[in-house]
Amino acid sequence: MAKPSKNQPAEGEPTIEVAAGSGVCFGVQRALRLAEEALGGGEPVYCLGPLIHNPQEMERLGKRGFCVIESLDEAKAAGILLVRSHGLGPDVVEQARARGLGIVDATCPLVRRVQTLAVELAEQGYRVVVAGEAAHPEVRAILGHAPSAVVVGRVAELTALDLGGRVVLVAQTTFSPERFREMAAALIGRDLPEVRVVNTICAATVDRQRAAAQLAERVDVMIVLGGRNSANTNRLAELCRAHGVETYHLEHAGEVRAEHLRGRRRVGIAAGASTPHWIIEAASERIRGLQSRKQ
Ligand code: F3S
Repeated sequence: MAKPSKNQPAEGEPTIEVAAGSGVCFGVQRALRLAEEALGGGEPVYCLGPLIHNPQEMERLGKRGFCVIESLDEAKAAGILLVRSHGLGPDVVEQARARGLGIVDATCPLVRRVQTLAVELAEQGYRVVVAGEAAHPEVRAILGHAPSAVVVGRVAELTALDLGGRVVLVAQTTFSPERFREMAAALIGRDLPEVRVVNTICAATVDRQRAAAQLAERVDVMIVLGGRNSANTNRLAELCRAHGVETYHLEHAGEVRAEHLRGRRRVGIAAGASTPHWIIEAASERIRGLQSRKQ
């Protein structure tokens, strides 16, 4: 039998590989850093909705005084409103200021770019079409900045739109690239005086999905880490399953069980954009421990 190369594990030797780009993206990392800094000031820090779709990380921040609220009415004491990476409409920020709250803006720069584009192009007379989910906080914030923009989630909705004049298509940063391409083709195919397409989809999401799918092809089991309420983590798990590998969507290291690894030598880990690196490290550690117990 050929001797295993330096980079290949010997037959039977367990491996753990983490998909490239797993875990929090730079936008969420920046928001977490700004939250930590704001908490250091000693004032209450409020956030409209969870800062990150990860219960463990939210619990950790909550112990330090971070308060997730549903409406500004819940911000009783003077304090700080942290604008999460999805952004907020200017009217909401103004209301918070009027209540005496300080503002820390953690809008992801890539989300900010969509907001700015929508405002500028609407001012230039374009009809702005946003490919996205109307109820998503990022899209609601874009519409807060550019109220004349219209949101479409599917090609059929775009086709049904009554359009004339100059039109520009942009996207929610986490929108499906395939669906965006279909929409762009449908728009270009219409008889309009001018169509502009600006792909504002975040590369971090696309790269993370590609890396997880590639890893799923060379391992025996995939552990996908992230909040059960995290849409992008659910999508990663779906993609891995679609590659035919047994996949477990778990929230944290404590959920990894020996049965998940039974009979499986090569373990792949992928994690959603809202999974902090400490959760990935803890899960890797636990898997290593379970693997060494089996030997
Ligand atoms: Fe920003 Fe992309 Fe993350 S848009 S918040 S870097 S997924």
